Amino acid sequence: MNGPRKVHIKSFGCQMNVYDSNRMADTLAAEGFTETARVEDADLVILNTCHIREKAADKVYSELGRIRVLKQAGARDGRRVTIAVAGCVAQAEGKEIIRRAPAVDLVFGPQSYHRLPALLARAESEGSVVDTEFPVEDKFDLLRAPSAAAIRARGVSAFVTVQEGCDKFCAFCVVPYTRGAEHSRPVAQIIAEVERLADAGVREIALIGQNVNAYHGETSDGRPSTLGRLLARIAEVPGIARLRYTTSHPCDMEDSLIAAHRDLPSLMPYLHLPVQSGSDRILAAMNRRHTRANYLDVIARMRAVRPDIAFSSDFIVGFPDEGEDDFAATLTLVDEVGYAGAFSFKYSPRPGTPAADMPHQTPEVVKSERLYRLQDAIDRHQAAFSVQCVGRTFDVLLQKTGRHPGQIVGRSPYLQPVVVTAPTSMIGQIAAVRVTEASANSLLGALADAPRNAGPHGATSRAEPMLAEG
Ligand code: 5AD
Ligand code: SF4
Repeated sequence: MNGPRKVHIKSFGCQMNVYDSNRMADTLAAEGFTETARVEDADLVILNTCHIREKAADKVYSELGRIRVLKQAGARDGRRVTIAVAGCVAQAEGKEIIRRAPAVDLVFGPQSYHRLPALLARAESEGSVVDTEFPVEDKFDLLRAPSAAAIRARGVSAFVTVQEGCDKFCAFCVVPYTRGAEHSRPVAQIIAEVERLADAGVREIALIGQNVNAYHGETSDGRPSTLGRLLARIAEVPGIARLRYTTSHPCDMEDSLIAAHRDLPSLMPYLHLPVQSGSDRILAAMNRRHTRANYLDVIARMRAVRPDIAFSSDFIVGFPDEGEDDFAATLTLVDEVGYAGAFSFKYSPRPGTPAADMPHQTPEVVKSERLYRLQDAIDRHQAAFSVQCVGRTFDVLLQKTGRHPGQIVGRSPYLQPVVVTAPTSMIGQIAAVRVTEASANSLLGALADAPRNAGPHGATSRAEPMLAEG
């Protein structure tokens, strides 16, 4: 007798892919699939792919090479292994994937996930199926919700997609093409999902979207909400103690969102606000629609309402025609803001985006050298920020067991991993932790009696600004 069919889903790229992979697993659970972490045990392998940079997209093909071998081995044992490619590479490349990797049975884009059971049935009976449509129906209405057991297995911090797609068309970016036009989920649909998560023990919600602060989902009276108002509504859901959101565009930091940072103790004082470059000339060429001064003004407004806020960012080095003076402006911006952390990337020309055809593409050696210098500057600020945390007491959401017995790993308000000695029964709790040591990528701490200057909802200290250098 065969057991239930097993699915292995591998996510590449951003947090939205992690969220989408979970929703696909939930939808397949209703069809009798169980999830397996071991690809070699799977009857169905789904690669949930990323197209943001060439390197990310290339990974898909090397992964497909490995899975093809498993498929052939399965066939020799009389076992069928179905291979599906989902995500942004699927959307961008469509049937080209099956041409390059004929072992693939199904290619489907991010807007088709709710159709997965039907697509799978078709792929298994007819062979190669490609679905990269942008359908009219709302996939969120049709995807299955996770069971309480699945929610608990995923931990006390959960992502919730509230917005998808982007209308900004930055000159380097594939997102408007792969994820499509901006779409916001209605408020009631999001609240129902958050309540379900909270009922199963989730304590922290990170709202996600490619351009999350452009959120304008419908409220019950038919009018559009804002992200600030949505956060205020979610903060009222019993059990939800912490809120975050990512990724934001500087032009969409509207007043109700800034007010939310002032008014909601559960909204964590850490904001990922990508700037991409510190040079106005390059920002204009990137079609970012903001200047360096606009960006610094947003930072100042945020600090005015929440002095303990810290920032992270994304940077691209070696955009076409980026000169040494443009790059120097990026370095001075890093110093001016004093980021607690940041991601930096070499510009990668993406097919179909305007920047791919711009003249004066930057040579690879120049990109590498600039990336090295930028990462060095970012690392310096990150280390300074971590050192500044030593001796402070933070509220830490205890999330999972650590590497050594007796250790629990949690997250500080600034998303830093904090290792602390505590019983596993405390997982899911928010505990006051005194930071005793800072290492490159985590903090070490000890349980404290009570948070210092704790806010009414157990929020962290607001009294002192964090590394406000600018
Ligand atoms: N090349 C390099 N980095 C890119 N990003 C987006 N598109 C590209 C590209 N073509 C980076 C941006 C964005 C992050 C998610 O990825 O910094 O904020
Ligand atoms: Fe891409 Fe973000 Fe620009 Fe939208 S705002 S085009 S997702 S970089």
